[in-house]
Amino acid sequence: MNAIEVHDLKKNYRIVRKEPGIAGSLKHLISPRYEELSAVKGITFQIPQGESVAFLGANGAGKSTTIKMLTGIMQPSGGTIKVMGKDPFSDRIRNAKKIGVVFGQKTQLWWDIPVAETFRLLKKIYEIPEEQYRKNMEKFSNILGLQEFMDQPARKLSLGQRVRADLAAALVHDPPILFLDEPTIGIDVAVKQKIYGFLKEINRERKTTILLTSHDMKDLESLCDRLIILEKGEILFDDPMDRLFEIYGEGLSLEEIIIELFEHRRVS
Ligand SMILES: Nc1ncnc2c1ncn2[C@@H]1O[C@H](COP(=O)(O)OP(=O)(O)OP(=O)(O)O)[C@@H](O)[C@H]1O
Ligand SMILES: [Mg+2]
Repeated sequence: MNAIEVHDLKKNYRIVRKEPGIAGSLKHLISPRYEELSAVKGITFQIPQGESVAFLGANGAGKSTTIKMLTGIMQPSGGTIKVMGKDPFSDRIRNAKKIGVVFGQKTQLWWDIPVAETFRLLKKIYEIPEEQYRKNMEKFSNILGLQEFMDQPARKLSLGQRVRADLAAALVHDPPILFLDEPTIGIDVAVKQKIYGFLKEINRERKTTILLTSHDMKDLESLCDRLIILEKGEILFDDPMDRLFEIYGEGLSLEEIIIELFEHRRVS
């Protein structure tokens, strides 16, 4: 079964069109002018359950916009999405139980309460059985080292601690699908390794489907089965990782392979 099905997905944003300078600002106040920006231009892909996919592309390619639509945060301008068979936007509440989401730039933890309390609240919200909760917390604490900051409010955590807590919070209800938008941005190498090791384990043990964006390609080749590259809102490449290594040679790094792909614009 496909965990995610996306067909001809589009997103247009309405953006302000303003002439430069004070005169332009005044003119905009009197008669505002807008134009449409096409951020995602009709993309189609399917992700089977258990697959882990790296979703890459330059700044502004449309990765976060796509993730926001897949997680039901944002309504598409066109096309269809099915996440575990349901439309994530119109079925937001049911969808929330099936997905875990981490936006590296933004925490989903309650800012002012101790991290431990956040987890207890999540247990209630998701109606997680005691045994499952206890097992998960034990596992996450061991691998992600949560105990060192469990009593602190989220606002007092360092970036790396915050992301580790966010990751555990996204997985505490055992969602079959995990969306990660730049989960390791600004994080040191040791913590990054911890996070990728943890994700690998979750993907292998629980068959969790993972869709992940990152500008940090080093760690992706061992975690991800497949690579989708977006360029200006369109899918430029969509290939299994091992196929890419077969075509371009085992000796190359993922970064070098992507440079090759862009230079030759060669689709498999
Ligand atoms: N809320 C918004 N309103 C208007 N335009 C937006 C909005 N969010 C994103 N955009 C525009 O849509 C395009 C795609 O943005 P998006 O954030 O999806 O890119 P991205 O691939 O995630 O980039 P990055 O690697 O920098 O995170 C960009 O041109 C961006 O300026
Ligand atoms: Mg982004």
